[in-house]
Amino acid sequence: MSTLVLEGEGLTMRFGGLVAMAEVDFKLNRGEILGVIGPNGAGKSTLLNIITGIYKPSSGQVRLEGDKLTGIPTHKIVERGIARTFQSSRLFGDLSVLDNVIIGRHVHTKCGVFDAVFRRGRAQRELKESAAIAEDLLKAVSRELYEQRHRPAAVLPQADRRRLEIARALASEPKVLLLDEPSSGMDDNDTEALITDIRAVCAARPDLAMIIIEHDMHLVSTLPHKVMVLDYGEKLAEGTYEEVRKIPRVQEAYLGRKAVENA
Ligand SMILES: Nc1ncnc2c1ncn2[C@@H]1O[C@H](COP(=O)(O)OP(=O)(O)O)[C@@H](O)[C@H]1O
Ligand SMILES: [Mg+2]
Repeated sequence: MSTLVLEGEGLTMRFGGLVAMAEVDFKLNRGEILGVIGPNGAGKSTLLNIITGIYKPSSGQVRLEGDKLTGIPTHKIVERGIARTFQSSRLFGDLSVLDNVIIGRHVHTKCGVFDAVFRRGRAQRELKESAAIAEDLLKAVSRELYEQRHRPAAVLPQADRRRLEIARALASEPKVLLLDEPSSGMDDNDTEALITDIRAVCAARPDLAMIIIEHDMHLVSTLPHKVMVLDYGEKLAEGTYEEVRKIPRVQEAYLGRKAVENA
């Protein structure tokens, strides 16, 4: 049975005269992957910014398991169970791979500065526990990454940095994971490895729901259960990849003339 986890209703986002998102609805079930595609400026990142509370929509609502998220501050939304990666890397380059993942767990740790100074035992126990969980996570996402856990994040190649961002997002134990163009800047081999990693994550966490914004059509045709096409902030189409790729308006808007010729 499918269970609704995340839902957007009538999402509209205006920036002055620009309508970045117009009356967009979506539904995401437990364990489901929704792919979001569309040309640059279509409103894809805006959608994630609305879901995570970075933008407050001009109208419309987002609900997580029936509870309204709209208007709640971003850090509270993370605590409720939504984690994301960004289009551009936001890792702490000087910190180790492992420390970057441990930081992702902060929503589940209780100790603050007071504890670190006056209750060192408790703070150290919690840190050790976080480190063990972070190591397991790294192993689950990518064995190679785990082996590099003590190196600074800055020395990792691009593809590993992406993996690390996913591991860090997962460290908050989200119900929903939002990935903004995870394969950008990757070659075909790295993208293939990314697909394998995401599959491993799904297998380990069958309840986890995901929204993946992507340009790579191989990834979009492989991972998502359904695909939503945005264009100028409007939902052009929604369905399986095979369904949406056949719609002429989608081909014109996004896939371009070349795809139509190759279809
Ligand atoms: N904070 C903002 N202020 C003004 N315009 C914005 C802002 N964020 C996004 N936009 C505009 O909204 C539209 C959609 O942007 P975005 O969601 O980033 O597109 P995509 O991720 O699909 O490439 C673009 O025209 C963009 O310039
Ligand atoms: Mg974007």
